[in-house]
Amino acid sequence: MATVEEQEVGQQLVTAHPGDPCTIVIFGASGDLTKRKLIPAIYNLLRTKFMPERFAVLGVSIDNFTDESFREQLSGEVSQYATEKVDRDLWKTFVSRLYYFGGNFQDPELFAGLKAKLGAIDKEQDTPGNYLFYLATAPQFFGEIVRQLGDAGLSRQEGNHWRRVIIEKPFGRDLDSAQALNREVKSVLAENQIYRIDHYLGKETVQNMLVFRFGNGIFEPIWNRRYIDHVQITAAETVGVEERGGYYETSGALRDMVPNHMMQLVSMTGMEPPLSFDSEAVRDEKAKLLHAIQVASPEEVLTRAVRGQYDAGTEDNHPVPAYRHEPHVNPDSQVETYAALELHIDNWRWAGVPFYIRTGKRLQKRATEITIQFKRAPKLLFQEAGVERMTANMLVVRIQPDEGISLRFSAKVPGPSVKIGSVDMNFQYSHYFGTAPSTGYETLLLDCMIGDPTLFQRDDMVEAGWRVITPVLDVWKALPPRDFPNYRSGTWGPKEADHLLEREGRYWRDVD
Ligand SMILES: NC(=O)c1ccc[n+]([C@@H]2O[C@H](COP(=O)([O-])OP(=O)(O)OC[C@H]3O[C@@H](n4cnc5c(N)ncnc54)[C@H](OP(=O)(O)O)[C@@H]3O)[C@@H](O)[C@H]2O)c1
Repeated sequence: MATVEEQEVGQQLVTAHPGDPCTIVIFGASGDLTKRKLIPAIYNLLRTKFMPERFAVLGVSIDNFTDESFREQLSGEVSQYATEKVDRDLWKTFVSRLYYFGGNFQDPELFAGLKAKLGAIDKEQDTPGNYLFYLATAPQFFGEIVRQLGDAGLSRQEGNHWRRVIIEKPFGRDLDSAQALNREVKSVLAENQIYRIDHYLGKETVQNMLVFRFGNGIFEPIWNRRYIDHVQITAAETVGVEERGGYYETSGALRDMVPNHMMQLVSMTGMEPPLSFDSEAVRDEKAKLLHAIQVASPEEVLTRAVRGQYDAGTEDNHPVPAYRHEPHVNPDSQVETYAALELHIDNWRWAGVPFYIRTGKRLQKRATEITIQFKRAPKLLFQEAGVERMTANMLVVRIQPDEGISLRFSAKVPGPSVKIGSVDMNFQYSHYFGTAPSTGYETLLLDCMIGDPTLFQRDDMVEAGWRVITPVLDVWKALPPRDFPNYRSGTWGPKEADHLLEREGRYWRDVD
């Protein structure tokens, strides 16, 4: 097996350095995301020396903590959620920089008090007035908090200090609401202060897609409609909705996964080479690709979109209930837990090459991957030897788990007759580079602290994603499903999703 030469491994596109000195203000500090991801991610950045020397973290939510009780609460939880064993001395350093401020996001007094508290923290920790506001709250508070930050004078960038806001997903529920939210936050903040997060982009393999495509001379010449038959993107989970049934009932698989995560993967796969790795150059190309996706007519939605809802079945050989029997779910729920779409991209590179995307819960295997299926070689040469069908070459970019890239090609099966078999050339990320335990939020938090928005969604990208999804939502709303639940837990989803490809003589890749 080939080895990666050391000097190649050591090459870096950009030299990473610690974030600017700042205070990270987390709205929603007693919530699930904060304890499971954000605090462990900040701790990991501290451990790997990417936190600035002068920093503080201020948690804000409605609960009645003091600085002291908040510190105790997080200290009690940290080992459960940290990605590796917690170093007690380092955690002590972290804790000495942790603060809490309680109040209701809808109350202007909260923001007046917050301003005073931030001033006191700046004095105590010698932080220079740079504030990273992280909105880890339910989406109905995004606009409100930004407006209140503006009213309290906390969003204004004066002198040398910066003010940046990370906004969690979902950004809107459809095109109209995403546009309205963009207008609302942009009436207070400049676009370069807004960081719309999609944690998929924090994953190394997603970022590697750009290096793979544009750092290698051999793939780009064949990355187009002349050589590629179609593209498949799968984001499959084995788990059900777990405790998040209440949220899921208002969202569904399409809204939850497609306009953000899956559109990012589509744009990374399909975009033109950017002029540079500058954030605007990269985001311009991604946005262009998203704008080139055809918006389906209602008739086309009927033939190009498939939805499903899981029935009882198994997960890891254990019996599991139907979606309609999950906690906080309506027993007659019409919400989809599976969605598959056939997308068409109207540009020269991709005309006639469908992108099939599918996502769902309680599927057979947990896997996120992009498959590039190349056109078949003609079988002429092997016809006399009785070869019926040539297997197409397939490039698979595995995003999670088992991150890596494999290329499937045909090889002669040893023996006296001409028999052709398929073999895989496989690159595993962990094999070459080891694994660094991570929550997926580290890179994104660091990027925001250094002011690099490349991996965040710009206003036009978010809207372009919703522009494609909204007609599907509209048709699905107008025509409630009649066959839900329509797939068993532990399978690959409804059979209609197979027909989507089979009618063109194609098949979903057997995720192994
Ligand atoms: N959890 C995840 O893994 C995950 C993953 C990706 C994205 N996200 C996104 O991250 C955001 C937060 O999710 P989450 O799961 O952490 O939500 P969550 O557990 O419900 O946390 C929400 C937080 O906001 C506080 N809060 C609610 N209403 C408030 C009010 N009026 N004033 C002040 N504080 C208030 C809550 O306090 P109480 O607890 O006291 O009510 C809690 O601290 C959502 O947009 C979600 O879509 C979450």
